Amino acid sequence: MDQPIGVFDSGVGGLTVLRELSRTLPGESFLYLGDTARVPYGTKSKETITRYSIEIANYLITRHGIKMLVVACNTASSLALPSLRMIYKIPVVGMVDPCVRRVASLPRRDAIGVIGTSGTIRSGAYEQALRASLPAARILCRPCPLLVSLAEEGWVEKPVTRAVIAEYLAPFLAAPPDALILGCTHYPVLKGPIQEFLGDGTVLVDSGEEAARVVDTLVSESGMKREKGTPEVRFLVTDDPEHFERVGEAFLGRKMESVERVTL
Ligand code: DGL
Repeated sequence: MDQPIGVFDSGVGGLTVLRELSRTLPGESFLYLGDTARVPYGTKSKETITRYSIEIANYLITRHGIKMLVVACNTASSLALPSLRMIYKIPVVGMVDPCVRRVASLPRRDAIGVIGTSGTIRSGAYEQALRASLPAARILCRPCPLLVSLAEEGWVEKPVTRAVIAEYLAPFLAAPPDALILGCTHYPVLKGPIQEFLGDGTVLVDSGEEAARVVDTLVSESGMKREKGTPEVRFLVTDDPEHFERVGEAFLGRKMESVERVTL
């Protein structure tokens, strides 16, 4: 199947997921859509995020014929995934289940932490999935909204970033968790200072890495592998491409060839 895999996020953050997808599946074509006209998603209601997600899925399926949809945004994964799966026939992969599956496979998983946007934490999606899979685990979930702006500024090593991480993650220090799910597209950029704060005893679970594993298995097992021609990666945004291109480089780990502005 030579159609691209569609990937969407509210903006640049999902490029951390695309980076892992491209690394794991170098033979596949990807079509990335950043909904930069309506970012952020992390502060919006379930109804709004579900409506946005359906509009984007409709656009990627009807206009571009994607063969699979990856919901790279953790907020959209937490709030809109059931609706998307109910509506569309193509496989829809979110961020929550792949992370929970990884945690469940760890040798130590008695205490689990989850950090994400306010919308992700408020939805309870990670907590419910973890409780279903690991009923005896102690689970602590914390919203860390300011980390999104710090990651976009590229302030990885700044004292202010360490101070914000210390403030948000202080509740985890009494008993550092066995695993911390980085339940937001932006947090992999801040892995270094987060790991330093919690210490090496905590495994950081990156949603992009885990989703890439799941997509890889799905593509192989369902006979969806791309077979002919050179794979391509295209970038679409719903607002001015300039900011996306400049900030996105650090998230993607490379330059983007071109970014097109589209109307959904
Ligand atoms: N992409 C969002 C997420 O992973 C973070 C940015 C936003 O709030 O839109 O939840």
